[in-house]
Amino acid sequence: MKFPPRIFLLGFMGSGKSHLGRLLAKRLNYAFSDLDDLIEQDAGMTISGIFERYGESHFRGLEKEALHRTADLEGHVIACGGGTPCFFDNMSWIRDHGLSVFLDVPPQLIVQRLLPEQSKRPLLRGLNPNELEVFIRERLEQRLPFYHKAALRIADTEPDRVEETIRHWITQSASFVGVDYGSKLAGTTAIAYFEPESGMLKFVRSPKGDDADLFLQNWLKTHPVKTVCIDAPLSLPRVYRTPGQYGDYFYREADRSVKAMSPMFLGGLTARAMQLQSRLTEAGIACQEVYPGGLARIFGLNTHGYKDKRSRPADLREHLQEVLPHPVRWDLVSDWHAFDALLAYASGWRFIQGNHVTAGTPEEGVIII
Ligand code: S3P
Repeated sequence: MKFPPRIFLLGFMGSGKSHLGRLLAKRLNYAFSDLDDLIEQDAGMTISGIFERYGESHFRGLEKEALHRTADLEGHVIACGGGTPCFFDNMSWIRDHGLSVFLDVPPQLIVQRLLPEQSKRPLLRGLNPNELEVFIRERLEQRLPFYHKAALRIADTEPDRVEETIRHWITQSASFVGVDYGSKLAGTTAIAYFEPESGMLKFVRSPKGDDADLFLQNWLKTHPVKTVCIDAPLSLPRVYRTPGQYGDYFYREADRSVKAMSPMFLGGLTARAMQLQSRLTEAGIACQEVYPGGLARIFGLNTHGYKDKRSRPADLREHLQEVLPHPVRWDLVSDWHAFDALLAYASGWRFIQGNHVTAGTPEEGVIII
């Protein structure tokens, strides 16, 4: 299995970023880079020297520059400094450029590890053991909100377990796709999917004039996934199965609760989607109905220009960054169809993580949001 080209390790001083990073890199046949080493090499002096001579804010500037120089590294595990994610927009940059992993180590273990190393660390020098503990607890508290923005949080620092957790993360994110489903020949059907080689979420479109359903089925032959999360009705109001018993000939409970269009108004599109589901099921692929508009509402995207002609989809990137498991090829999100495919993917990911909400009933049809 292909791992993402850049894996960033984050966490407090003493959380084992460098130690684990080296071992993990070896296991993956990756190179290892330590941001502090890169800064020292460039500056020709030690981190302590930089702090003493130029102060912390100068150091933070150098740290940001060193971070940005990792953008093109391929096959690297990169240990960041304990403070890296907490300055400038570094955390957002990290999420855009690789897989970020927070090593979540309890404060008492950090204190134990840092006591013997105190003199080497500019922020800890001169503190007595009590002060050291207070400093670590306070600083960690301030930094946790930044560390929690990492894609993955790992409390286990055994390299084989860390590798396994990352592998599982990749397997899960490649196991499904998000689809914005459009009319047959319009070229508006878009697929959002995870590409392990680049470590990015990417997009494809049915070519205009081609049968979108055939396009989807063919694409899925070369991209083995278990589930297609599709923005299209996959069932009809229950009255059609038990005539006379129910009164609503237009809406399912799910449509009413999320304010989606009626499957009956969508007509041919609903018929195609249900037929597609049956064909995919035969091929061993599950279909799951999702509703990007509902997710956009939950994320408050309507107030940030969602589907507004005056805004571009990439303008909304910051609102999705932390809910997706990998960076997005925003250059490929050229219109709202691709964006909705991404929201469909986000719903699939929420489902896997157990963070989703559902609308409707299993008998009539459930929408995952
Ligand atoms: C720092 C952590 C250090 C180093 C510098 C500042 C911090 O890196 O970048 O001393 O602010 O936590 P490590 O976490 O690799 O020790």
